[in-house]
Amino acid sequence: MIVLHNVCKEYPNGVQALAGVSLQIPERDFVFLVGPSGAGKSTFIRLLIREELPTSGRVFVDGQDLARLRRRDVPQLRRKVSVIFQDFKLLPQKTVFENVAFALEVSGYSRQDVQQVVPSTLELVGLAEQADRFPDRLSGGEQQRVAIARALARRPAVIVADEPTGNLDPATAAQTVQLLVRINALGTTIVFATHNSELVNTLRRRVVALEQGHIVRDQADAGYE
Ligand SMILES: Nc1ncnc2c1ncn2[C@@H]1O[C@H](COP(=O)(O)OP(=O)(O)O)[C@@H](O)[C@H]1O
Ligand SMILES: [Mg+2]
Repeated sequence: MIVLHNVCKEYPNGVQALAGVSLQIPERDFVFLVGPSGAGKSTFIRLLIREELPTSGRVFVDGQDLARLRRRDVPQLRRKVSVIFQDFKLLPQKTVFENVAFALEVSGYSRQDVQQVVPSTLELVGLAEQADRFPDRLSGGEQQRVAIARALARRPAVIVADEPTGNLDPATAAQTVQLLVRINALGTTIVFATHNSELVNTLRRRVVALEQGHIVRDQADAGYE
């Protein structure tokens, strides 16, 4: 599903964020991407959604080389690979329902489909009751669940998450991860960048550890260290 082949990423300032990363992530996998700050986790995530291109090497999603995607094919990739961030990135002037609906509308869903998909998605993340609230009236955990609903609504094959629990207290972080585990069980591949060792140790999934742009460990059913 996702293949990185000898990927290097050097930013214009000369920082080598990834240095020869090769990795395969099969469909339905759940991967924790761990490592200290500056290890290259966010860069890895940005390459998967084609927010950045590698300096050398290749990134494939479903056999498609992301460097060779045409600009007009990028929206299609973003439907396949959805992203959630630490800071939720919700639209503050839109309700919960509208935040999720907007993501579908910009992808060309019909009004009818939007009216059907949004409620069922909010149901899945446990926010049916909060549909008409604005983000500032929600807890951090609820806001992150809106972001997950927004990512999930288009039924992506993959959800990539960059420190999605970074702003949440431990109990809320654990709930958020449990939601992603359920979504994974329904068939979505999850790539989860985090330096929260407790979450990783509790779940014991595949762990890919980055240090200074290198993969130093790739282990199934593993803990953080
Ligand atoms: N847009 C950028 N321009 C220049 N350097 C960057 C940029 N983004 C990240 N870096 C640098 O690349 C390295 C890896 O960063 P990052 O991928 O954000 O790691 P992590 O998410 O693991 O903290 C760091 O040294 C960081 O300072
Ligand atoms: Mg980061």
